[in-house]
Amino acid sequence: MKQYDFGVVGLGVMGRNLLLNMADHGFAVAGLDLDEQKATSLEKEAAIGQQVVGTTSAEQFASLLKGPRALMLLVPAGKPVDAAIASLLPYLNKGDIIVDAGNTYFSDTDRRVRELADKGIHFFGMGISGGEKGARFGPSMMPGGDKQVYEQLRPIFEAIAAKVDGEPCVAYMGNGSAGNYVKMVHNGIEYGIMQLIAETYDFLKRAGGFDDDQLQKTFEAWNDTELGSFLIEITGEVLKKVDEETGIRLVNLISDRARAKGTGKWTSQNAMDLQVPIPTIDVAVSMRDLSRFKTERIEAAKQLTWEGMKNIPVEEKEQLVEQMKHAYYFAMTATYAQGLAQLAIASTEYGYDLRIEEVVKIWRGGCIIRAVCLEDFRQAYRRNAALPNLFLDKAIGDKLVHDQRAARDIIKSAVDAGIPMPAFMASLAYFDAYRTETLPTNLIQAQRDYFGAHQYERIDREGAFHTQWD
Ligand code: 6PG
Repeated sequence: MKQYDFGVVGLGVMGRNLLLNMADHGFAVAGLDLDEQKATSLEKEAAIGQQVVGTTSAEQFASLLKGPRALMLLVPAGKPVDAAIASLLPYLNKGDIIVDAGNTYFSDTDRRVRELADKGIHFFGMGISGGEKGARFGPSMMPGGDKQVYEQLRPIFEAIAAKVDGEPCVAYMGNGSAGNYVKMVHNGIEYGIMQLIAETYDFLKRAGGFDDDQLQKTFEAWNDTELGSFLIEITGEVLKKVDEETGIRLVNLISDRARAKGTGKWTSQNAMDLQVPIPTIDVAVSMRDLSRFKTERIEAAKQLTWEGMKNIPVEEKEQLVEQMKHAYYFAMTATYAQGLAQLAIASTEYGYDLRIEEVVKIWRGGCIIRAVCLEDFRQAYRRNAALPNLFLDKAIGDKLVHDQRAARDIIKSAVDAGIPMPAFMASLAYFDAYRTETLPTNLIQAQRDYFGAHQYERIDREGAFHTQWD
């Protein structure tokens, strides 16, 4: 019987596309799905000469794979992952490898690594980014697990990953749940950047008086500058799209109530647990939540008025675009800085042994937060692998010192106009707080000691102190 190099479990769009991507690169791949139609139609979708087979039987699937088996799960995170593992286990042997490629919460992966290690099965948690297209033509992949075992997966993963300057957008991330953790923070940064773009759009539209065409052209032009990135590029595309029925730009017909699947929230929740400040990401999560209070907002819009709103004069538009561009670069860098600082601390806390330079390297292509600036950020971590914060790199820091003027000016105009730009504000405040040698938290310490005898430390001598304040 023909033996296949790799197995894919779950032949939805993502699983199917990854499988076909593997077949494109010359690998023989078997797919498993309980849905007969999905399993049987696979062979028809593959190109002539490709070695692809689909089945609905876990037993047959396992018998089709070369040993030690390597297979990837593309099923929804949570219980379906446990169910898929349970259905396969009776047919697997010691030394086989299971890769979970869903947006799994990292501690679930740690549990599965432990449970499966007892049975001699290697388990990997791997973040995949890039959506359906990425899966088909080159995603960014963030695998974590046993370093030695990763060598068996490496050839196939490097073949199917996106490439930037010939380098694959996949690398071994670290132990245990490192891959899922990195993907979680990737998504947190994704939330932050999407919120920054939304605020930019709102500001240019309402304070700048930009019409649909001007907005679209601005984003399109920015994509050819240092702001070049997947999210800026698709924003230009989105703003171009006209609704066929009404002839109106589609974006203007879309409800402003945003949804979320939870990975941004996980990033914020875990950052709080680790006591790492990521205010831009936190506020991005909050703004999606706030957007859902539509009825209350409609009422508040009538009551809580602000008459100061004034449009920026037409002749200043060009200057405004330039200012906005620098402000965006500033806030975007601050968002990456927060996420990467969280990764550095999580790496120590959870023993991941992450190399941040590798993380940034594989985010340069394939993934949702891919951006031109990531090459500069990679260089920063190459200069100093132990960099605690991107801000402290001399080249990045100098650029921020220059761009802060624009960020301050845009935020001032937004405050005057009454336009909410909390992600920009949080980014600037993070920068300002980070570069403040003496914060006013001495007062907080004094207050805590006043009402709770929580004690404080002094700057002029060692020890813990309590004062009878009243
Ligand atoms: C990716 C995306 C992907 C997914 C998001 C959407 O990297 O390909 O991040 O994982 O589209 O999870 O997240 P929300 O539904 O929470 O916006």
